[in-house]
Amino acid sequence: MKDSLLEFSPGYVSGLFDRMSATYGKVNLVSSFGFAHFWRATCLKSLAVEPRHKCADLMCGMAEMTTLLKQVNGVSVDAFDFSAGMCEGAKRAVARNGWNDVTISQGDVLLLPSDARYDRVAVTFGLKTLAPDQLNRFAQILFGILATEGKVSLVEIYVPRARLLRLPYLFYLRWIIPAVGRLFLGNPDCYRSLAVYTENFARTENFAAMLKSVGFTVSTRPLFYGCAKLYLAEK
Ligand SMILES: C[S@@+](CC[C@H](N)C(=O)[O-])C[C@H]1O[C@@H](n2cnc3c(N)ncnc32)[C@H](O)[C@@H]1O
Repeated sequence: MKDSLLEFSPGYVSGLFDRMSATYGKVNLVSSFGFAHFWRATCLKSLAVEPRHKCADLMCGMAEMTTLLKQVNGVSVDAFDFSAGMCEGAKRAVARNGWNDVTISQGDVLLLPSDARYDRVAVTFGLKTLAPDQLNRFAQILFGILATEGKVSLVEIYVPRARLLRLPYLFYLRWIIPAVGRLFLGNPDCYRSLAVYTENFARTENFAAMLKSVGFTVSTRPLFYGCAKLYLAEK
């Protein structure tokens, strides 16, 4: 998939993740050398979640972040994702853990009901497949669903600036991750397209400014020399 073919329609992106859903957990863990888990833990820490907080996990995948949020006693989590395959995986995680205060809903986060209110919102690795106009809309939605004094923490894979790290990193993103995808999925194309979305996101994103423009107080921080980026938005 070439940059010129970057496709952001909900049907296309949810289909992509449906195809990856059988292998996403393993490929994500192996290809990130476990960093994905570590960055989710950083996201959780930045949220300072307290017992009885009402939380949301947006673009929840297979409930990876929900699983971390549930480490805090007494929190409830509403998780949303538009991929049927990912939602099935998330529902299996709920059943396995016997959580009765977690809901998994299949739907587009750009269409979230405006009457929802959350104390804490987590978004991990879902930003790169949103086009700039969708990112802008997403910033508005986040502001709308967050309770006063609430926090949103978002983490996305990025491309480091330092040349020494950047070149091997890009090689890894473009060639090694698709090869791992081929190993598990028999087809590297889905994972190759994730590299294209990641590079495009790192080159074009202006998300912190978008969050500020809707009213959030925002701080950002590079994770592992800029291989990922954390945005903390507070209301
Ligand atoms: C890379 S996965 C990340 C999953 C999980 N949050 C994690 O930490 O691994 C991105 C997820 O975002 C979902 N997604 C992307 N755009 C979405 C949208 N507009 N509405 C709902 N889900 C979306 C995809 O279906 C996919 O499951």
